[in-house]
Order: sequence, then structure tokens, then C-alpha cells
Amino acid sequence: MGGQLFMKMGLVNPYPNRIDKGRAHITGNAADDFLFKVPPLRNVAKTAPYFHDGAVYSLEQAVKDTAWHQLGVKLKPDAVEDITAFLKALDNEREVNFTVTDNEQTREE
Ligand code: HEM
Repeated sequence: MGGQLFMKMGLVNPYPNRIDKGRAHITGNAADDFLFKVPPLRNVAKTAPYFHDGAVYSLEQAVKDTAWHQLGVKLKPDAVEDITAFLKALDNEREVNFTVTDNEQTREE
């Protein structure tokens, strides 16, 4: 479900943003062009905007784009709907608040 490795963004069809070359900017190695961390998908429905440049605001669009860039597949609307419904099932059921104030309150309990 992501979060473990770097992968080329635009594996099959190139990603439109050609300026940010991801990991290659750090390593200076052309073999690392367009490598980005595969993000964990837990709570993904709540973490828009998507991709390394935040270019996409809807999860449906992110699913469509990923299928195109990473798999070379043009998903049909019902497939986009099904995959998006699955991704929404990866959300936490309760709201989690990571603010410092909230953590301090928890520690005091
Ligand atoms: C239908 C299958 C797939 C779905 C539904 C899917 C879903 C997603 C979603 C929703 C994101 C955006 C997450 C975010 O920005 O928080 C994402 C990003 C990403 N996915 Fe997938 N993915 C799929 C297949 C793949 C495959 C096959 C690969 C690589 C072999 C891959 C590699 C990546 C990478 C590298 C990113 C980060 C791209 C960036 O930051 O620009 N994905 N994926």
C-alpha cells in the first residue's frame, strides 16, 4: 500500500511536470530522474492535494492519472469509482488530530 520505496512517476506515460525530477535532485544521478516516494495510502481520501507537486485535488482524478502514468491504462468510470471506494475504506474511522495541544492533553490524562 505504498510508503516503502521510491518509484518512477511516469513509468509508462510521462508525468506532465518535467521540472521536478525528484530524487535525482538529491543524488545527482540521472538514473534517479522522476523517482518519488510511493506514498502510504492510509487516509488518502483526506490528504489532497495529490502527487509530489500537489497538482491534483480530487481522488478520482488521482486514480485516473496514476493508472495512466504508471500502468498505461485508461480506466473506465466504473473502475475509477470502485478503486476510489476501496481507497476511501483505508480512512481512519475516527478523526485524528495531530496538533501539539492535542498530544499534550493526551499525555496529561
Ligand atoms: C490502479 C493502481 C494504482 C492506484 C489506485 C494508485 C493510487 C495512487 C494514489 C491515489 C496516489 C497519490 C497519493 C498521494 O499523493 O497522496 C499515488 C501515488 C503514487 N503511486 Fe500509485 N497507484 C496505483 C498504481 C501504481 C503503480 C503501478 C506504481 C508504480 C509501479 C505507483 C507508484 C506511485 C508513485 C511513485 C506515487 C507518487 C507520485 C508522486 O508523488 O508524484 N502507483 N498512487
